[in-house]
Amino acid sequence: MDESSWKTSITQVEPNQVRVRGYEITDLMNEISFGAAVYLILRGELPSQKVAKLMDAILVSSIDHGVTPPSALAARNATSTGGSLSGAVASGILAINEFHGGAIEKCAVQLGHIASRCEKLDQPLDQVAEIVLDEMKANGDRMSGFGHRVHTKDPRTTTLLELAAAAGVDGRHMHAAWAVQRVFEASGRNLPINVDGAIGAILADLGFEPAVMNGIFMIARAPGLVAHVHEERTTQRPMRKINAANHEYAGPSSRSVADA
Ligand SMILES: CC(C)(COP(=O)(O)OP(=O)(O)OC[C@H]1O[C@@H](n2cnc3c(N)ncnc32)[C@H](O)[C@@H]1OP(=O)(O)O)[C@@H](O)C(=O)NCCC(=O)NCCS
Repeated sequence: MDESSWKTSITQVEPNQVRVRGYEITDLMNEISFGAAVYLILRGELPSQKVAKLMDAILVSSIDHGVTPPSALAARNATSTGGSLSGAVASGILAINEFHGGAIEKCAVQLGHIASRCEKLDQPLDQVAEIVLDEMKANGDRMSGFGHRVHTKDPRTTTLLELAAAAGVDGRHMHAAWAVQRVFEASGRNLPINVDGAIGAILADLGFEPAVMNGIFMIARAPGLVAHVHEERTTQRPMRKINAANHEYAGPSSRSVADA
């Protein structure tokens, strides 16, 4: 072997053969969902069926959230200037940071911190959560993954938490998330766990490293961004002033997947 060669464990490509993490890509194409494939490529192993369903739900839950999220606005603004598809989608991806999409990673880290502190000090979880939240407030920091500009009871969060329970995901991060929600509730603040918080707690309890978590949001949101760029390009004039508050939904009215 060439001494200067370097190693990769992700995908093996040989003439007429492609194996992802050792599995024939054709078998994966025939047998697993995209969520399971994302789990496989990031973790190196296939998930159980219930975890695969949970991964699919995480990806679907984050596919789009209308025109107001900063990533959609960034992508539309870039399109409006005549930007390319790749440039405009990249602009959207670049807007995924600590307070949008990126709350997933930070929430997982913060929940892990609460759980570790509870285990180390052998104190009740709610008490530790309260101390940590007070410290954050004193430092001008926020608990990522809680609160929402639009939703007080986000349907995505409820469904994800139900699917997580069905998949047996109920570890230290999930427990810490419930404790944080209880402490906020007890202090009279309506800051429920949001979709990013639910995803952060779930992914952390599934054993994902925080460093890849925002990437999962990017994977999920990319189709939405492509749709926004294409709609902007094909239905709006260039260089328009984009006022997110002034938009009107003009798509199909409510319909059922069961009737599709
Ligand atoms: C999402 C978010 C920006 C929505 O905020 P908002 O509803 O516009 O509320 P504001 O930013 O005006 O904050 C209102 C109050 O609640 C507090 N607050 C809001 N979210 C908080 C959080 N996650 N942790 C602690 N305090 C929070 C603010 O400090 C502020 O307190 P004050 O009145 O004492 O100054 C906010 O909840 C937040 O920053 N959450 C964390 C980041 C996150 O999870 N983002 C992903 C959203 S899906």
